[in-house]
Amino acid sequence: AINIIMDTDPGIDDAAALTMAINDPKINLKLVTAVAGNVTVDKTTANALKIVHFFGKDQEIPVAAGAKQPLIKPFEDAARIHGESGMPGYDFGNDYGQPIKKTAVEALRDEIMASKEPITLIPTGSYTNIALLFSEYPEVKENIKEIIAMGGTLSKGNMTSAAEFNVFTDPHAAKIMYDSGIPIVMVGLDVTLKALLTPETMDKLGTMGRSGKMLQALVTHYNDGDDNGHPMHDVNTIFYLLHPEAMTTEEMWVDVQTEGPAMGETVGDIRGAYHDGKTNAKVCVDIDAAAFNKWFLEEVAAIKD
Ligand code: BDR
Ligand code: CA
Repeated sequence: AINIIMDTDPGIDDAAALTMAINDPKINLKLVTAVAGNVTVDKTTANALKIVHFFGKDQEIPVAAGAKQPLIKPFEDAARIHGESGMPGYDFGNDYGQPIKKTAVEALRDEIMASKEPITLIPTGSYTNIALLFSEYPEVKENIKEIIAMGGTLSKGNMTSAAEFNVFTDPHAAKIMYDSGIPIVMVGLDVTLKALLTPETMDKLGTMGRSGKMLQALVTHYNDGDDNGHPMHDVNTIFYLLHPEAMTTEEMWVDVQTEGPAMGETVGDIRGAYHDGKTNAKVCVDIDAAAFNKWFLEEVAAIKD
């Protein structure tokens, strides 16, 4: 199995990404760290615990709480998209356990250093925890295989015309991550807005077991998308991990703009003109949307519930 760690801010699409990562037998999810983003870190931590508990993995998959706010920029949530709780529409009960005592940064360090196989790091929130980790414990970089990160865009943003939410929320952290020297796969709006979860897929989820119904309930309360469907942004990272052949990628250097009106923009050096052909990322530029919907349903169908 592929050893991964998810750094996340659930968040409805984060919850769906966690669902796939927890249940797919080809994945070994070793740790979940939470960060402030869609809602406050208390809530994203609780939401991550709820999903882990929903699948009965409380003993196997630790959850650690991370940064309360971005490195420099003031914190602003996205409750208008994901609801006040961050995961509305389904009653997970009150008995979902506690995060471990270690902070996200300490837990990330310990888990990455202890792993015999290099880790694939999958951030689906802002990259604050990751930036803090690299600043505090740069030695972890040697045991990270790659970072598959939801965030960014080469085209239009979903916060400003330039910036996508995860990068916009903590652009300074994003810059540290992109400049880290670790190979990055940018899974941004260029693909996530093409692979909408269709109304047909939503209907099918509702006819499935406990997991399908849970996901359908959450996505029904998700204020992202329209009659054509809902973007499952964060789930695209797991889809890429398992099916890179379903995406088209282009290698380039990605710079992050940290100030001014274009703050949070991911600037791709598409012709190698600014960085002399050097690259720091594979940017996902196209996706097989039908394959994504098919895979989504297959993953949920395979969950024993
Ligand atoms: C990203 O922003 C968040 O609201 C989603 O969970 C996703 O990670 C999409 O821009
Ligand atoms: Ca997210």
